[in-house]
Order: sequence, then C-alpha cells, then structure tokens
Amino acid sequence: MVKANFSLNLNDESFTWQVVDPFSDRAAMEQHLNDFCQLYAQRPFDNTGGILFGSAFAYYYFLKKIHPKTLIESGIWRGFSTWIADSALPNTNLMCLDPVLMMPLQFEAEYRPARAGYSTQDFSCMNFYSELTEQACVFFDDHQNVMPRLEQAMNYGIKDVILDDNQYEPTYHESITHLIKQNHPVLPLLFSHIEDYYLFPPLVPPVAEGCPLQPIWDTVPECLQALHLNLDDELRYTWMTYLRLKPKTLLD
Ligand SMILES: C[S@@+](CC[C@H](N)C(=O)[O-])C[C@H]1O[C@@H](n2cnc3c(N)ncnc32)[C@H](O)[C@@H]1O
Repeated sequence: MVKANFSLNLNDESFTWQVVDPFSDRAAMEQHLNDFCQLYAQRPFDNTGGILFGSAFAYYYFLKKIHPKTLIESGIWRGFSTWIADSALPNTNLMCLDPVLMMPLQFEAEYRPARAGYSTQDFSCMNFYSELTEQACVFFDDHQNVMPRLEQAMNYGIKDVILDDNQYEPTYHESITHLIKQNHPVLPLLFSHIEDYYLFPPLVPPVAEGCPLQPIWDTVPECLQALHLNLDDELRYTWMTYLRLKPKTLLD
C-alpha cells in the first residue's frame, strides 16, 4: 500500500494506493506559512541557483514534520537550504555534501554553520554507519538520477527522503515524475519500496504543467504579500517531494 496525495494508475494489480491529503488543514498550513514568512524575512541573503520561497517553505514544512536526528543534504551550493535546516531543526545533526566545496568559487554570501559537517564526497561513497542512518533524512538537491539515489539511501537504511526538482519538464537528471510521465515499466518495482509519497502542492495558481495537485491558496496570502518578493521567481514550482522508503529486506 502506497499512501500518496494524488492517485496514480500503475496497471499493476498487486498495488493498492490510498489517497490522503496531509495539506488539507488550511488553518494549520496558514500557521506554518506565517511562521515561515517570519523566518524568511531574516534570510541571510537572497538565494541564487537554489531554492527560493515556495520550495524553501515546502522544505521547511517537511523538515518540521519529519524532525530527523540527522539531516544529510546532498547539493548545498551557497547553503541556503542549510540555513533553512539550521533554523528549523536546531538540534539535528547536519551533514552537507557537495563537490562545490572544492571549487575555487567566491560567493558574495554563503551560509556554512560551524555545527554542520562538510564533505566533497558523493553520497554513494560516504560509508555512513547504521546508527546514524536509521534516524536520518536525506535531502537530494544535487540533480542526480533518482533511481540510484533511492537505492543508495535504501542500502544505508535511510527511510526519509526529500527530493527537490522531482520535475515534469525535461532536465539533465531523471526524476520520479519523469518516470510517471513515461509510464515507465520500473514504476511498480519503485513504488513497491515506497510507503508514503507526498508531492508538495503549489502555493497559489498557476499550476505547473503536469502537476496533479490544486494550489493550497487561491490568492497570495497576506504574510507572503508583506515580504514584497518577486513572486514569479520566488514561487517557481520545483516539485519538492517527501517519500518514505520501506526498510530493505534480505531479498531486496
Ligand atoms: C541547485 S544546487 C543546490 C541548491 C541548494 N540546496 C540551495 O538550496 O540553494 C545543486 C548543487 O548540487 C551540487 N552537486 C552536483 N553534483 C553533486 C553530487 N554528486 N553530490 C552532491 N552535490 C552535487 C552542485 O555542485 C550544486 O551546488
């Protein structure tokens, strides 16, 4: 049984889907948005090349819900997502992976909290020990193909996974949404390893091509208006997704 916030017909009788909407309590969503607007107003810099308001809110929301003991971020760039994680989860261990750390780049501003651990190694090479991964969440914002990433997470025993750029439109990595769009034959196998699959909805219209969800709000909420952001950029939909993997069995 896969719990998800939209229905999907896999043409496979061994599958059952349960459609649930964890975002349906609009008052609770509004409260989360108000909290997040206050945080966003204190952002250390205006991000470029990474998550902006809409995706950052989705990330913040998922992190608050999951509350992992350890968070591994694969793909940190200037560290804006790390700032969200550092702010949302002050007691969570942070591990940040990105080859950008060995490049001679000078960002005008970046966020690298002293309490986070850093590595330029790829996630697949980290040899994480099981006590760490059992209560860890991994955030993939590294533009790598999703199937090997999920297999690597499963092999480490990580169950909570957040994906950015789980997108419909073509790009240079393969996303779960791409596989769904193609009705790819791997989907039954992929979803046999997934317990929960929640795509974060758009905050307001318009809805991106291929997105199966309605926006949470019809119009831009007040707290967001008050931030005076460029909403065309800041609300660009990046298909932020949370999924929970089933534990690996000896037969997997
Ligand atoms: C979109 S940026 C990340 C944005 C960041 N999370 C933020 O919120 O601003 C993608 C990053 O993935 C990194 N990347 C590329 N290959 C990677 C890999 N194999 N492992 C980890 N990061 C990788 C790039 O260097 C780049 O910094």
